[in-house]
Amino acid sequence: MKALNLILTTSEHSKSRAKYLLIADALRQAIKQGQVAPSEALPSARQLAAQLNVNRHTIMAAVAELVAQGWVEAKERSGYRVVKQLPIQTSQSLISTASNTINSTSQNSTSKNNSALKNDAVITPSFNWQFRYKNTATISDTKSPSAYQYNFAGGQPDNRLFPFSEFKHCFSQLCQRPKFDKLGYGASAGEAELTEQIATYLRRVRSITDKEIMICNGSQEGLYMVSKLLLQAGDKVAVEQFGYPPAWAAFKSSGAELVIIEQDDKGIIPAQLATQLIKGDIKLIYLTPLHQYPTTVTLAVSRRLQIYQLAAQYGVAIIEDDYDHEFHYDSQPLAPMAADDPLGLVIYISTFSKLMFGGVRVGYVVANNELITQLSAYKALMNHKNNVLIQQAVAKWMQQGGFESHLRRMTRCYHKRRDFLVSLLRDYQRQGLPINFNCPAGGMALWVDMGVSIVGLKQKLQTKNVYLQTEIEFNLLTEQDDSQYRFIRIGFASMDENEVTQGMKIITQTLYG
Ligand SMILES: Cc1ncc(COP(=O)(O)O)c(C=O)c1O
Repeated sequence: MKALNLILTTSEHSKSRAKYLLIADALRQAIKQGQVAPSEALPSARQLAAQLNVNRHTIMAAVAELVAQGWVEAKERSGYRVVKQLPIQTSQSLISTASNTINSTSQNSTSKNNSALKNDAVITPSFNWQFRYKNTATISDTKSPSAYQYNFAGGQPDNRLFPFSEFKHCFSQLCQRPKFDKLGYGASAGEAELTEQIATYLRRVRSITDKEIMICNGSQEGLYMVSKLLLQAGDKVAVEQFGYPPAWAAFKSSGAELVIIEQDDKGIIPAQLATQLIKGDIKLIYLTPLHQYPTTVTLAVSRRLQIYQLAAQYGVAIIEDDYDHEFHYDSQPLAPMAADDPLGLVIYISTFSKLMFGGVRVGYVVANNELITQLSAYKALMNHKNNVLIQQAVAKWMQQGGFESHLRRMTRCYHKRRDFLVSLLRDYQRQGLPINFNCPAGGMALWVDMGVSIVGLKQKLQTKNVYLQTEIEFNLLTEQDDSQYRFIRIGFASMDENEVTQGMKIITQTLYG
């Protein structure tokens, strides 16, 4: 038999591969190219060994690999032959059969003379997914906000200031003395060390007591799970007119409808909520009471009480999303609604995404025992539990005091950065720009009325390496004309003074020329 043209790969990656695997790859390639046809014998091991200048055992190992992969079979007394039907042909022939079936079915059901659907034309059908929930945004064309030189994303912490070397010690301690009994399944509500640390912290700093905790993969998973457990198609969720789109998406994924409750400069209007509750079907109220997302307003105690009373009267649970509680600068932050919840109707959701960084994916739901039991069972169904090592590392970091020192450092830093942005905007006002805003008592962003339409601003800025969110993406009321969209949300936490100054210069020049 004539020698095969065998090309052994010499790429960087192939250097670490065993020789017999490289030979198996080359033989497979030769078979695919048709150098040896199906059912035809391979050259003998001796021939191949001589051609490639290797030991016969190496060739036998390569052939054995091809047998295992289904390309070659051993034939008694006649050596090794290429199989009759190559592995690639098997799936291709399945596709052809499916395609022919589809074609002939559609031919029968439509026109027999339809020349585009000839039985002999092999059209590769693409699988017809039947989505129950479909996202219309293409994930691949969404560049991450942190990939921009100037990232004004509202809730973005400054990841550069996270104490990685301190945190690394927590991890390495855990890896030096692994807790073998904790590395398996179970404990879907979270590692006891972490839930205990969080419970102590919440009791001390946020006055939340008598509730259970479940650790989740960031608040988003908590929102999604709550929506899966409590909502069904046709249910309604009362949300603030301006809000957090990922939460809306979680509710809508269960088939729920959003009911817009209007807000004023003091936050959501309780009378509007009452009007909607009377109409019925509302199953949940979603609120961001401390730093209303995106407007940053703190909901006054009197309104909180009114809302709680309404929820109690109509038997509706409240989700309180307290995503950046500690970053409050002018006074102590108001205690969460969950701290005064005699009926246990508040589902409190919070996160480490702002205190650490978004990719850490540690969040938690705090609620009464009945709900947490069900949520934990659902968590087990979805993904068993959160990553154990990261939970233990965060617990250790909290226990050793690193978490609270970092928090104090970052609160001081973000306080300064808020004040800097406020003074920069006041300078702009003095220069005559039609900018209007209230200085928020806390949070990581300012909600600013730019005095002119901001429609198209985000896209223009993206071409200038600036990421900025505008009112359009947060406002549920869409029937306004362009001139009515005037607000932007300027995150001030993730960049230093120099970066904010440069970025703001680009924003104002783009908007006002
Ligand atoms: C209103 C709100 N809730 C929750 C989160 C945090 O989400 P996660 O914990 O899933 O990172 C954010 C982050 O931007 C937020 O703005």
